[in-house]
Amino acid sequence: MNEPLEYHAVGERRALRDGKMLPCTVAGRALVVCQVGDTLFALDDICTHAFARMSEGRLRGTRLVCLLHGAAFDVRDGRVLTGPASRPLAMHHVRIVGDRIEVALDPQAPAAATID
Ligand code: FES
Repeated sequence: MNEPLEYHAVGERRALRDGKMLPCTVAGRALVVCQVGDTLFALDDICTHAFARMSEGRLRGTRLVCLLHGAAFDVRDGRVLTGPASRPLAMHHVRIVGDRIEVALDPQAPAAATID
């Protein structure tokens, strides 16, 4: 039987709007919550190519572009759209509870780079 997901509050709902990102840390893992339209997506915040924070890049529609070398990922599933990255960004679980944004790590997500 699967363990229930453990959700953590990472910010207030009004902190985000369409096209904006909210960097946060859950259990030592750097994440970014992206809003596209009315939908929120939670992904690893560290690019899979080298070490750069995706939240310092650009969000254009569903396309999340790394500032350092320009890799692009689809925020809906984390897949690589443009290199040089070759591995997808791990996706996590996000929900709205009242005015809070809550995120739970995906237990299946591969290990991520750690942050200082
Ligand atoms: S670190 Fe993101 S594309 Fe190189």
